[in-house]
Amino acid sequence: MSGTSLLPSFYKLGIEERLERVKAFAQLTDKEVELLRSGTSLNLETANRMIENVIGIMTIPLGVATNFLINGKDYLIPMAIEEPSVVAGASNAAKMAREKGGFTTSSTDPIMIGQIQVTTVRKPLEAKKAILEAKEEIIRKANDQDRILKSLGGGAKDLDVKVLDTTAGPMVITELYVDCRDAMGANVVNTMVEATAPLIERITQGKVYLRIISNLASKRLARARAVIAKEAVGGKEAVTGVVEAYAFAAADPYRCATHNKGIMNGVTAVVQATGNDSRAVEAGAHAYAARSGRYSPLTTWEKNEEGDLVGTIELPMAVGVVGGATAVHPLAKIALKILRVKTAKELGEIIAAVGLAQNLAALRALATEGIQKGHMALHARNIAISAGATGELVDKIADLMIQEGKVRLDRAIELLEQVKQSQNRNKPH
Ligand code: MEV
Repeated sequence: MSGTSLLPSFYKLGIEERLERVKAFAQLTDKEVELLRSGTSLNLETANRMIENVIGIMTIPLGVATNFLINGKDYLIPMAIEEPSVVAGASNAAKMAREKGGFTTSSTDPIMIGQIQVTTVRKPLEAKKAILEAKEEIIRKANDQDRILKSLGGGAKDLDVKVLDTTAGPMVITELYVDCRDAMGANVVNTMVEATAPLIERITQGKVYLRIISNLASKRLARARAVIAKEAVGGKEAVTGVVEAYAFAAADPYRCATHNKGIMNGVTAVVQATGNDSRAVEAGAHAYAARSGRYSPLTTWEKNEEGDLVGTIELPMAVGVVGGATAVHPLAKIALKILRVKTAKELGEIIAAVGLAQNLAALRALATEGIQKGHMALHARNIAISAGATGELVDKIADLMIQEGKVRLDRAIELLEQVKQSQNRNKPH
């Protein structure tokens, strides 16, 4: 098995060769490779069990980002996304980070928050005190709902109560803190808050309405950090450009939304590939970015004393490796196998590293040559393929079109004809 994810020119390989490399890296079975190759691994029967009113299956490309070194371990990163340049950007940035040891990561315990809303309480502060006094009983009731999670070291661990002043009057909100271990946790948390709500209603003598998980998973954070050698970024000017780009995002919500969107290009692609809930992670990320009352970047970038670039990221990471679509979708299972992860903690930290890499790729490109050049290279290759180019001719035709500044199908067809004619002329007779 090849242990390194540093795979130069992986993008130049054909799909079959890429599959071979990934198969060797992740020890995939022939059946798993066949599922990847088929492009329709989710059948209608399975789809029909996942959601309601199924009439078909919508597919998106699954790519693999290379070069990732995280906490000293090599990773190939499966990314499900329809947007060009994202997989290439992540791979390039991971290569830049590799020079100084790649990414280092950390995370909190996998604690999710479940909320129980009590209304029409005449004495909210007394109700709060009563809930806090019944804490042990509430936590016991919550843990009765999932003995397995408890036996694995997870389960409801604590709770807190806050009184909100709302347009509909005061409300007493109980927040249950549940360690979800390797699950994303929505099912278990929602079951627990529904089960404990009658008890809380009795204690407070109020009326419970909502009992639901919060997607602002501020107690389940993943972090990553990387030092990028100035030469790898493209020199002093490029380092300054990235730092200035970060400062722009930190000062302006209009830029910051796009900055964070670029991060989520990477984050969401891995969340989707592993069958996790991308809306939950997106909601958590953006709410966390606004936690201070001012919408802020999820990453930071600064220059260290050596003139190298130092990047960090911190964001909520509600992802799992058991339950939900991770267990049902055949490709999600293969994606987890390619990642060689066993725990939600490791998966969350990898995703944070990918988010940081994606942000680096975007900021470096934006601060230097702009992003259209990268887009154009891929676009030109697609046009060359549409014109009928195969093998080495794909890059050749694409390069010629880019040099001429004419990336068009009619020109690709002409160039292909010319190149083929000249190859025929030069063939020995
Ligand atoms: C495009 O999908 C993402 C970028 O706009 C991110 C950014 O501007 O930082 C390139």
